[in-house]
Amino acid sequence: MKLTYFLVGLALLGAATVYLVTRDPNADGHLDIYSFQKFKRSFNVQYKNEGEESYRLSVFLENLKMIEQHNADATRTYNQEVNQFSDLTNEEFGARYLMKSLPSQLNKSLPVLNLNETASQPIDWVPKNVLPAVKNQQQCGSCWAFSTAGLLESVYNIQNKPKTPISFSEQQLVDCCGAEGFGCEGCNGAWPTDAVSYVQKFGIVQENQYPYTAKDGNCNKTLENVGFKPSKQFQVPATDAALQAALQNSPISICVDASRWSSYASGVFPQSKCSSDPNAADHAVLLVGYNADGTWKVRNSWGTSWGQQGYITLAAGNTCGLENYAIYATY
Ligand SMILES: *[C@@H]1O[C@H](CO)[C@@H](O)[C@H](O)[C@H]1NC(C)=O
Ligand SMILES: *[C@@H]1O[C@H](CO)[C@@H](O)[C@H](O)[C@H]1NC(C)=O
Ligand SMILES: *[C@@H]1O[C@H](CO)[C@@H](O)[C@H](O)[C@H]1NC(C)=O
Repeated sequence: MKLTYFLVGLALLGAATVYLVTRDPNADGHLDIYSFQKFKRSFNVQYKNEGEESYRLSVFLENLKMIEQHNADATRTYNQEVNQFSDLTNEEFGARYLMKSLPSQLNKSLPVLNLNETASQPIDWVPKNVLPAVKNQQQCGSCWAFSTAGLLESVYNIQNKPKTPISFSEQQLVDCCGAEGFGCEGCNGAWPTDAVSYVQKFGIVQENQYPYTAKDGNCNKTLENVGFKPSKQFQVPATDAALQAALQNSPISICVDASRWSSYASGVFPQSKCSSDPNAADHAVLLVGYNADGTWKVRNSWGTSWGQQGYITLAAGNTCGLENYAIYATY
């Protein structure tokens, strides 16, 4: 077995070397190897054995080539960069960080939010001290719990104005929302609306009371019915104007197609790189503002080393389907 790994490793290393020596002379092979070493150091990456390392090197080099090609395109609207996902194929990225199954559809009988849409102004909730620091879901499809916690943190902090924004427990949602019959599937995925329904009934405690483990666990029921409960939730109509009006009051939970977000660094992510089909939704995030040009500011849960300190700017309109499942809650 070991020998097989060794031989496969040797073969891959050989292939990588041939690739480096024979590729476009403008791109310096030594710099690529240096980039891989830098990547491993930056993200504290360790591989089980040499076979794994040489395979990851080959995937990294392929990604690096695509990132370089993307950034050399003068017509691009956003930049890409090497980040913590750069040694994964797109399929591996989807399997590890996006939602695998969405068990139900948005509850169509949720009340629709009805706001005055004529008075909206561009808004950014990030400098308003209503959200804790950007979080990291790690290898668990629990984005829905982060989107839900972000929505409820906003609602709570906007109302109560604590000096340090309160942070709510994603792990309680991961462990308990499915266990209590709300259709959530922990690290496999869920709809934020179902998680908000769970919290309306059982409450949500603070992050430090029920800390995040990035794994499915047993629901600790002694922590239920002691935390914050929002009174109502609404669906926001799927239009720019409705979302902009709702954003005047609070950030909003949204679901998107994030299957090509892995290398995003900065700039405006365009509609052409994702699907706005409701069935393409594979990730939940928090809409935290919009700009005068109609572009959206979105808070992700992949840590601050991803994107713009953890945020992404999406093109105006229903980019990546962001308007399909927008949820708003009140205190
Ligand atoms: C849908 O939402 C309404 C209003 O909140 C609620 O009464 C109903 O039980 C929900 N239905 C499902 C299937 O979750
Ligand atoms: C909506 O807001 C605009 C601008 O503030 C105001 O003139 C208008 O009367 C409002 N409409 C309603 C129905 O409240
Ligand atoms: C559940 O939470 C309570 C209160 O924080 C704690 O004392 C208890 O140890 C927890 N139970 C488990 C199984 O973690």
